[in-house]
Amino acid sequence: MIIMAVESSCDETAVALVKDGRTVLTDCIASQVDLHKIYGGVVPEIASRKHIEAIYGLAEQALSNAGLQRSDIDAVAVTYAPGLIGAVLVGVNFAKAVAMALNVPLIPVHHIRGHIAANYLAYPELEPPFACLVVSGGHTTLIDVKDYTKMEILGTTLDDAAGECFDKVARVLDMPYPGGASLDKRAQQGKEGRYPMPRARAGENPLDMSFSGLKTAAINLIHNARQKGEEIVVEDLCADFSAAVSDTLVPRAMALLKKTGYRKLAVAGGVAANSRIRRDILTAAEKLGAKVYMPPLKLCGDNGAMIGAQAYYEYLAGNVADMTLNAYATKSILGEAL
Ligand code: KG4
Ligand code: ZN
Repeated sequence: MIIMAVESSCDETAVALVKDGRTVLTDCIASQVDLHKIYGGVVPEIASRKHIEAIYGLAEQALSNAGLQRSDIDAVAVTYAPGLIGAVLVGVNFAKAVAMALNVPLIPVHHIRGHIAANYLAYPELEPPFACLVVSGGHTTLIDVKDYTKMEILGTTLDDAAGECFDKVARVLDMPYPGGASLDKRAQQGKEGRYPMPRARAGENPLDMSFSGLKTAAINLIHNARQKGEEIVVEDLCADFSAAVSDTLVPRAMALLKKTGYRKLAVAGGVAANSRIRRDILTAAEKLGAKVYMPPLKLCGDNGAMIGAQAYYEYLAGNVADMTLNAYATKSILGEAL
């Protein structure tokens, strides 16, 4: 089954063709990052307009890359939530038009389920159930992936997402948007210990997390130093900050493994590209005798292929939509009725 998958929830327009949920025939992405950089973050209205400009050409390019015709498309899938509402709407409307024109099923995919499914592309042998740590720009969640379309959230951030925290601190350090990757690079050149950062405990549930205190601590430290005219060793600060994020995430991911009893841990989302977190997860999971699944860097960020992967399993579970499908800025990953 060949699925055309459309993703437009934030600042990348993406169209992929994926076969049977596991094989990427092509994955076309038009990034808008350079455009939003000027403003230090994504400007929703600009994002929507750029998606409109890019989406049709990307779909044509995808077919031509894969050497396929429109008639080879068996279904069209789209991120319908969560994301910037205007941006998500562009993808949803485009996918509806394709579904109607080609008379093929329309499959709505939750963006975060897509991130998790990036692992199915990278690891053909991976099948649920498994434990999953989702760390993206907007989500930081610990999930029991019971089946391809059945999940339970066992822990979550009570305030900021890890990616948001990386981006805010990077911005205060004058790194270009989105700062997570730049901060990671600088951290790799730094030494830990000069700038001790807090590790917050959040609430009753030991699997819940909090990042706003850490973010504020890092930003205050930078502002205080600047006010006093003190120089900051940026690399060292980035190293200490990354260590604190990792120390918040990794023990909880291990606790998730223990709680679920699974020996498989998948990591998903843009922040799964972070070198420190990847390293710490591998070390900690090895101690527990658990296998770790982490998408290659190009599948960690937003892409269409991951949407096509999840869409296949949504289709098998009967989760298809009609022309009344709407876009949603927020929606639980648990998959309540559309
Ligand atoms: O999953 P994603 O592409 O978008 C959402 O669905 O939110 O994640 C984007 C986030 C951004 O916050 C970005 O700064 C962060 O992932 N990111 C990183 C790294 N690469 C991307 N954060 C830390 N270290 C990285 N290497
Ligand atoms: Zn994403």
